[in-house]
Amino acid sequence: MKDILLNRRTIRKYSAEPIDDALLNEILNEGCRASTTGNMQVYSIIITRSKDKKEELAPLHFNQKMITEAPVVLTFCADFNRFNKWCLLRNAEPGYDNFLSFMTAAIDSLIVAQTVCIAAESRNLGICYLGTTTYMANKIIEVLKIPKGVVPVTTVTLGWPAEKPERVERLPLDAVIHNETYKDYTDESINSFYIGKEARSDSKQFVTENNKNTLAQVFTDVRYKKEDNVYFSKMLVQVLKDQGFMNQ
Ligand SMILES: Cc1cc2nc3c(=O)[nH]c(=O)nc-3n(C[C@H](O)[C@H](O)[C@H](O)COP(=O)(O)O)c2cc1C
Repeated sequence: MKDILLNRRTIRKYSAEPIDDALLNEILNEGCRASTTGNMQVYSIIITRSKDKKEELAPLHFNQKMITEAPVVLTFCADFNRFNKWCLLRNAEPGYDNFLSFMTAAIDSLIVAQTVCIAAESRNLGICYLGTTTYMANKIIEVLKIPKGVVPVTTVTLGWPAEKPERVERLPLDAVIHNETYKDYTDESINSFYIGKEARSDSKQFVTENNKNTLAQVFTDVRYKKEDNVYFSKMLVQVLKDQGFMNQ
């Protein structure tokens, strides 16, 4: 297990080999053993295998090719719909139409997603998360016929690897660990934690290709721009309202 975690990398190219139902079920069954708030399991996982559905989803994931090339696409949803229905059938009044409950269900969904990923990677399958799910949740809801009380929070593509990319480095452990209380960063510590990442040749290439002066500018001005963040943030808040999670 230690090596699986240390040697993993995101896989974005997959072979044509399918993933059979029995294997996928095993992986999902193991994933669903993950911890879940109050054992409520306030999540759902939508499996997409058909070419047609993948093609409908592709533009909503900004045409990232993994969607159509992976044999299996999993959309993980924060889901109080099933739990609410159970409560109502059992003479119990659900109080889950608020932002806290959305967060609870989103946390449950992400924990199950990551556990499914580890179960898959432990069998040498490759995975790629797609962050586009929260950008285009409103349209994904339409394509996957998702009802009120449910919000897609992340997507994972799954398949047999057809590439072995370089392992992507991480910040030093010291950069992300705080002992007992949060130790805020100084200019010096930021410099020392990021210098390794900035010195990598692929980072330098990224800066040049994007006509920027620093790696941070590639993030702020190109990859994750404020105007996009604000635009998609407004759309997501509207989705939360429409799906019944914003009773404050
Ligand atoms: C929530 C989340 C969303 C992500 N979204 C995308 C995505 O839309 N497209 C993509 O190619 N990779 C995506 N990734 C993968 C990251 O780019 C990748 O994990 C990161 O660069 C580190 O690489 P590694 O997983 O190979 O170590 C996402 C990862 C996470 C956790």
